Amino acid sequence: MIHESTHRFVFSVGNLIFKVPKCFIFEYLYKVFHYDIFLWHLHRRLYLRWRRAGFYILGPLLENYREARLYLKTRHPDLAKLYLPLIIVNVYRKESGVGRLSIGERLGQQIAKTEDRQFVEAFRLCGHTFDHASNFAYSENHLQILDYGEEGMEKLIINYWDQVKELILKIVNEHGES
Ligand SMILES: Nc1ncnc2c1ncn2[C@@H]1O[C@H](COP(=O)(O)OP(=O)(O)O)[C@@H](O)[C@H]1O
Ligand SMILES: [Mg+2]
Repeated sequence: MIHESTHRFVFSVGNLIFKVPKCFIFEYLYKVFHYDIFLWHLHRRLYLRWRRAGFYILGPLLENYREARLYLKTRHPDLAKLYLPLIIVNVYRKESGVGRLSIGERLGQQIAKTEDRQFVEAFRLCGHTFDHASNFAYSENHLQILDYGEEGMEKLIINYWDQVKELILKIVNEHGES
């Protein structure tokens, strides 16, 4: 295991990275059935708890789903290469040079300077991804996004990635890595 977040387990085997959503399906079923073993109440209970089902089962799948969708839609070479988009497990190529960029705050400032409101808003939605150096791999002007499952990343990558990348490389060239 190399990483555990609220939504995913990430581990590496050889040259591959596996991302597995934390689907608490058993916890969910336990909560549904725990207090009520009478079948005539069951449908009501399942209905009442659909929101929980979303939280426990679907929520964790979303990041893998968004990454698979964006990768398959664009096959952008700056996205960590996705070999197997099964959603319940996504398998990626292991990239090198992870965690060498620290750009979050400066990038936000640079984007604000463009005074392009739509660009600023698109960045704001997923800016969190850029706060963590470990979400990127970088070596010799070659930049790769490892974590592209946050909401809003699709819009940012499709509409603004060239501008974002140019600003990141400018920041790195001016301030160095990390
Ligand atoms: N393709 C990859 N190559 C190398 N390391 C990776 C790759 N994908 C993820 N990692 C490492 O695993 C960590 C967790 O993956 P990430 O996609 O950021 O998951 P989470 O959504 O849980 O933050 C990353 O921060 C990075 O250090
Ligand atoms: Mg991450």
